[in-house]
Amino acid sequence: MRETLMAKYLSFSTLHHGIELDDVTMLIICMLICWKYLQIKLTKPNPYHNMWFERPQGNQKLKTVTQERNIAKIVESQKRDIIIFWASQSGTSERLATQLSRHLVVALSKRSFVADFSDFDIETVSKITSSIPVLMLLSTYGEGNPPDNAVQFFDWLTNSSEKVKLEHLQFAILGVGNSTYKHYNKFAQDVQSSFVQLGAKSLLNLHLADDALGLTEEGFLCWKEAVVKILCGRFGFVEQAIPYQPGFSVRFAELPRDVDSYQPQFRKQTQNIRAMSRLSAIRKVTITKTKILSADPSKPCLHLDIDISHHPELKYETGDHVGIWPVNFETEVEGLRSALGISTEDMYKRLVISSQTPESEQLLTFSDTMTLASLFKHHLEICSPVSRQFLQDLKQFAPTSEAERWISAISSDGATYSKYKASNRITLSSILMLASAGQPWNIPFSFVIESLGLIQPRYYSIASASAVYPRQISLTVSLLSIHLDESDDIIHGVTSTYISKLCDNKISSSTAASQGQVPSKELAGLFCHVRKSTFKLPASESQPMLTIATGTGVAPFRGFIQHRVRLYQIGCQVGRTILIFGCRDKNSHIYMEEFEEAERILGDKLDIIVAYSQDRSQPQHIQDKIKKYSREIVDLIVENRAKTYLCGSTRMAKEVRRLIGCFYAEYKNFSPEEVEGFQERQTRSKQWQEDVWG
Ligand SMILES: Cc1cc2nc3c(=O)[nH]c(=O)nc-3n(C[C@H](O)[C@H](O)[C@H](O)COP(=O)(O)OP(=O)(O)OC[C@H]3O[C@@H](n4cnc5c(N)ncnc54)[C@H](O)[C@@H]3O)c2cc1C
Ligand SMILES: NC(=O)c1ccc[n+]([C@@H]2O[C@H](COP(=O)([O-])OP(=O)(O)OC[C@H]3O[C@@H](n4cnc5c(N)ncnc54)[C@H](OP(=O)(O)O)[C@@H]3O)[C@@H](O)[C@H]2O)c1
Ligand SMILES: Cc1cc2nc3c(=O)[nH]c(=O)nc-3n(C[C@H](O)[C@H](O)[C@H](O)COP(=O)(O)O)c2cc1C
Repeated sequence: MRETLMAKYLSFSTLHHGIELDDVTMLIICMLICWKYLQIKLTKPNPYHNMWFERPQGNQKLKTVTQERNIAKIVESQKRDIIIFWASQSGTSERLATQLSRHLVVALSKRSFVADFSDFDIETVSKITSSIPVLMLLSTYGEGNPPDNAVQFFDWLTNSSEKVKLEHLQFAILGVGNSTYKHYNKFAQDVQSSFVQLGAKSLLNLHLADDALGLTEEGFLCWKEAVVKILCGRFGFVEQAIPYQPGFSVRFAELPRDVDSYQPQFRKQTQNIRAMSRLSAIRKVTITKTKILSADPSKPCLHLDIDISHHPELKYETGDHVGIWPVNFETEVEGLRSALGISTEDMYKRLVISSQTPESEQLLTFSDTMTLASLFKHHLEICSPVSRQFLQDLKQFAPTSEAERWISAISSDGATYSKYKASNRITLSSILMLASAGQPWNIPFSFVIESLGLIQPRYYSIASASAVYPRQISLTVSLLSIHLDESDDIIHGVTSTYISKLCDNKISSSTAASQGQVPSKELAGLFCHVRKSTFKLPASESQPMLTIATGTGVAPFRGFIQHRVRLYQIGCQVGRTILIFGCRDKNSHIYMEEFEEAERILGDKLDIIVAYSQDRSQPQHIQDKIKKYSREIVDLIVENRAKTYLCGSTRMAKEVRRLIGCFYAEYKNFSPEEVEGFQERQTRSKQWQEDVWG
């Protein structure tokens, strides 16, 4: 055998010395076959050719992308009367912008163009004429920054090399923010002042909606009323009442039950390139390990490990977030089915949803194999409270006059609505059931689709180090439950309950099973994506770190500490790490053993300081510990250039920042201006980082 192969090799290698006729014939035949093959291949269209142009979420249908990039031209050619811009990260401003657009059709018979800043050549904003009022709903993110879809717009407004001129523009802005953040509604305020400086005319004073007080919706309603009034006054629009006009036509078509394949997709605004670069593809992953971290019945907490080894496109770095796509409670799906008088059979028929108006064309795209069951279960936020505006719009479909009166009563004003919400479940299904005493409603599906928001992924801090576990992601999930006033009813968080059910552990079984959120077999895994964050370890492993957390806010620091332990174990010189951690008591002291083990390994390189707020003998918060170690903390930050990281609630971060600021004054004799300047520089240079929420 060896000899034959050798002989063959020799004869090939010496081919050019003595080519035989047979060889030439074989060569020609081979070439002819290749030519024929290529001819067939090149002339026949490749059925998968389109895949080259699809986004990572492959089987999703892409939204219609505006070809024309000049906003002024689009508005003119589409004969729109008003432009509504939105800047949004998690969808609130976008939803309100669409709501406003619908209202302006009904109230003024005027058509708006709802615009995502990232869909246009931003300098064409200055070409908008004075006859077109410009309304803007602007959320603020990060440290008072614009959301991703408005970064380019803000750059143009503030840093453009050519002087921007906006003398023709007439505008009104609603800022959508949260006053527990240091830079409350800063983006909206910055745009307001830049527009005025650049010559634009403000139709109204800047209105701000504050989520901290649960007043986003009320702020919006108040602004909307003022907008309608000013548009009538300045532009001669006339108020009138037009009945509801469906934005979508929704009809059934037969479809075998098993064809509906669910694949979550990002909202429209996240499809722009900048936002997409921070988001991975959405993939179905499996949970490989789960653990109950705290079985405290009032605040259970779980740990889970997710396997990403089969998804090379899911990559993470320590400090990133994971977005989890929830599944709605079956009780709410069933409640909605029954309240809308839909038969079980119809729930599984294929839906054909097509847009009826240019506004709805812009709004949503649904898969053409979707069923109502899937729409309710996966795509619409049916478990969230319905807004006061929604209730007011709903009245027109009330099956009885009592139902109409009842809805009018609970939505008459902001205070009445808030009081009712604090003590009653106000998901759509509960409201429909209660209002009509069980009598089915005949509501156009289009109204339900347009009025309920699209389901949003919930974000969780990654609790593992990518350097140690590159193909595994750990999460720390606290189960959310809201106890309603004067009621035994408890609102359970959709995603946290869903995750706990997937983990199939004892603490969740009563909640999830009672609400029927039990995942069917297709959901043995969960859909998630990775979102890059800026909450990152110091570039140098020898730089000291001060990490401060409350509750599940400790999650990213588990990853940070794992990272430092690994570096230390391979012989690197790691800087000192201090973790100040606040939890209720020993029961909720999550990852206690792991952290103690890390302390043992790292010795004087790691100090963990814990405050138990509900300790019977000596209740303490992290602020008490910060006071106790204040001198050391200030030295570490000011002299040793330690990086400071805060994770947990917004309120905690605000208080800690203020407290540490007081100690700069005490130990370093900083004046109040110097404290502010120092803290600003620290934030700008990322020496001080916050990953806070809620
Ligand atoms: C960057 C970031 C990182 C995070 N990291 C973590 C983490 O590591 N661990 C962690 O546990 N969490 C974390 N969170 C929080 C997490 O994203 C979720 O918000 C949390 O788990 C709750 O989600 P849920 O779906 O369970 O609850 P939801 O279902 O979203 O919340 C309950 C719902 O009930 C509604 N409601 C209130 N009153 C009523 C009423 N009367 N009638 C009807 N409905 C009502 C509320 O409005 C709310 O919509 C993080 C958040 C962010 C932004
Ligand atoms: N990346 C992120 O942004 C991220 C990650 C994880 C969690 N979170 C958020 O962090 C928060 C904590 O969640 P949790 O439910 O796990 O915690 P929790 O159980 O509500 O609270 C944990 C501990 O923090 C204390 N605490 C509450 N408010 C405080 C304040 N202003 N200053 C100092 N201590 C305070 C509590 O004290 P008491 O006993 O007195 O209440 C308790 O000891 C939530 O808002 C959560 O969503 C954010
Ligand atoms: C990570 C994060 C950072 C935020 N930063 C700010 C801020 O600096 N100033 C502010 O007023 N609101 C801030 N908010 C609150 C949001 O603006 C508010 O929740 C708003 O309703 C979100 O709107 P959106 O869904 O349109 O993105 C922040 C929210 C999050 C989750």
